[in-house]
Amino acid sequence: MKNIVILISGSGSNMAAIVRAAEQERWSERLNARVAAVISNKADAAGLEMAKAHGIATSVLDHKSFASREDFDAALMAEIDLFSPELVVLAGFMRILTPGFVAHYAGRLINIHPSLLPAFPGLNTHQRAIDAGCQFAGATVHQVTADLDHGPILAQAVVPVLFDDTAEVLAARVLTQEHLIYPRSVAEFFRNLPSY
Ligand code: GAR
Repeated sequence: MKNIVILISGSGSNMAAIVRAAEQERWSERLNARVAAVISNKADAAGLEMAKAHGIATSVLDHKSFASREDFDAALMAEIDLFSPELVVLAGFMRILTPGFVAHYAGRLINIHPSLLPAFPGLNTHQRAIDAGCQFAGATVHQVTADLDHGPILAQAVVPVLFDDTAEVLAARVLTQEHLIYPRSVAEFFRNLPSY
C-alpha cells in the first residue's frame, strides 16, 4: 500500500475532501493508496479531529518549539518519513519550507494555492485579485519546488470574480473548486505512477 501524508495548519477542508474521495472512490483497492497520516503545525487545527474520526494517524509538531526553520523541517521530515510516503500533500500548510525539505521530497510533494498561478503567489490572494480588477480567479495544484508557489502546474480551476465580491466571498467560491481539483490531482498522481 502506498502512503499519502497530508500536512495542514487550519481547518483542513482540503484534507477532508481528499480523505472523503479516498473513501468514496476506494483508493486503497483501486489505486493501492491510502491517507496514512495527517500532521499539523498547530495543535488546534480543526482538521485533526476529522482525520482521527476516519482512523488516520495524526500528530502535531509546533514550529514555535524549534529554534530554527531548519530544525523544524528536520523534525517534520523525520515525522513524515515514519510513514515512508509516496506522496506528501500540503493542504493549507502555512509554512515556508526549507530547500532541504523540498529537495528531500522532490517529485512527491504537491501544494494547492488559492490563485491562478503564476498570478498572486504568497498571501492575501483573493483581495489582491479583487484589487487588480481580475474577472476570474481560481486555484492551482502544483508540484512544490524551491521557488515558492511556482512549481509545475498539475491542475487549475477558474471561478468568476463578481462585482460585489469580498475576499471572504471569493475565497469560499474558490475553496469549493479546490475541494474538487485537489482529490482529483492526488488520484491522478497515483494513476500516473509507473507501477500502477
Ligand atoms: C486553502 O484555500 C488553500 O488553498 C490555502 O489555504 C486554504 C486552506 O484551507 N493555501 C494557501 O494559501 C497556501 N499558500 P483548508 O485548511 O480548509 O484546506
